Amino acid sequence: MKLLLVSIIMLSSFSAQAASIYVGKSKAAAVCSQCHGVRGTSAGAPFPPLAGRDEEYLKMALKQYRDKTRVSDIMNNIAGSLSDRDINNIANYYSRQKN
Ligand code: HEC
Repeated sequence: MKLLLVSIIMLSSFSAQAASIYVGKSKAAAVCSQCHGVRGTSAGAPFPPLAGRDEEYLKMALKQYRDKTRVSDIMNNIAGSLSDRDINNIANYYSRQKN
């Protein structure tokens, strides 16, 4: 089931204008939550929780995934299509969720 989800997400992130998919919290929640949990509290390993995490930390992590200074096959692909604005929106959203 997880594998299926991963391939669906990968496929959708390669098609379409991926950057705009992530604008706004509902979109971020819909995409990221597949792995990280609906309110940012993830189902558990290997997906780290995002709810209530430090906003600056989240931004930093996503930028590192985007420029591949932090390596993760999944997150490098996902963050690769995020703009700075997307990253700000997402970090803002998750840092305000209760965990
Ligand atoms: C297909 C599953 C999947 C999706 C979708 C996904 N992630 Fe991840 N994410 C992971 C995995 C697995 C890791 C752990 C990778 C590692 O070891 O670095 C991770 C790690 C992270 C981390 C680092 C957390 C930490 O504790 O350092 C952040 C931040 C993050 N993801 C944000 C996001 C955001 C924002 C989205 C939506 C745009 C997203 N992820 C979508 C699987 C996913």
